[in-house]
Amino acid sequence: MIKIVVNTPKGGVGKTTTATNLALMLARSGKRVLAFDLAGGLLMSQALMTTPEFTRSSANRVEQHEAEHIPEKFKDASQFDFAVFDTDDSYTVGADLLLGARPGWRVISPVNPFDQVGLTRIPRDIRAVATAALLSPSDLRISIVVNLAYGGEGSTEQACILLRQALRDCGIEGLLVNTALPHGTMQTPPFLLHDKTYFAAMNNLIRELEL
Ligand SMILES: Nc1ncnc2c1ncn2[C@@H]1O[C@H](COP(=O)(O)OP(=O)(O)O)[C@@H](O)[C@H]1O
Ligand SMILES: [Mg+2]
Repeated sequence: MIKIVVNTPKGGVGKTTTATNLALMLARSGKRVLAFDLAGGLLMSQALMTTPEFTRSSANRVEQHEAEHIPEKFKDASQFDFAVFDTDDSYTVGADLLLGARPGWRVISPVNPFDQVGLTRIPRDIRAVATAALLSPSDLRISIVVNLAYGGEGSTEQACILLRQALRDCGIEGLLVNTALPHGTMQTPPFLLHDKTYFAAMNNLIRELEL
């Protein structure tokens, strides 16, 4: 089971949106997905429980563990190809994933480059965890992804340039993936896979991360 933690040390960056659409996309492509909700409000799990993928198919499952820590072990892990975690705004990655050996765990950190506060603080926080990960047995793979949560502020290209520069200033440009998640049109939040541009980007992200 590949474990993917969606976590960024900031609210409103698109953690829940990214986790929900990633979990649904993987399930639709025939993967067996455990959607593990640790976030306050349990929005990802509530949303997924309205989809046929997570209600009619026994291959996928939703678990709700609001505000709990990320567990190390999972029962029935062999029944799933992926576990996708939505998490709280606090940077749980540092506290939870760097303790103990967590081979093969992945972290996806969505960042909205047009959020000025986030753009200054997030890269420094992620750098601290990325540095600690080098010294820990966790073997974390951290991927930073542009996510245009607000829309209307500028182009995806501009967003990528802004974030790349901020990450370069922190020495962690190498964690930025090429795929950017665009601002999509939501009919039923937080679902975005009906938006062709967003769907294509999520598809590219899955391929780029070799999921
Ligand atoms: N790619 C996107 N396209 C459109 N709206 C988005 C996108 N990402 C996030 N949003 C919106 O931005 C807001 C914050 O997103 P959310 O996923 O709840 O962030 P977080 O879980 O990090 O707090 C929500 O209103 C959500 O609908
Ligand atoms: Mg959230």
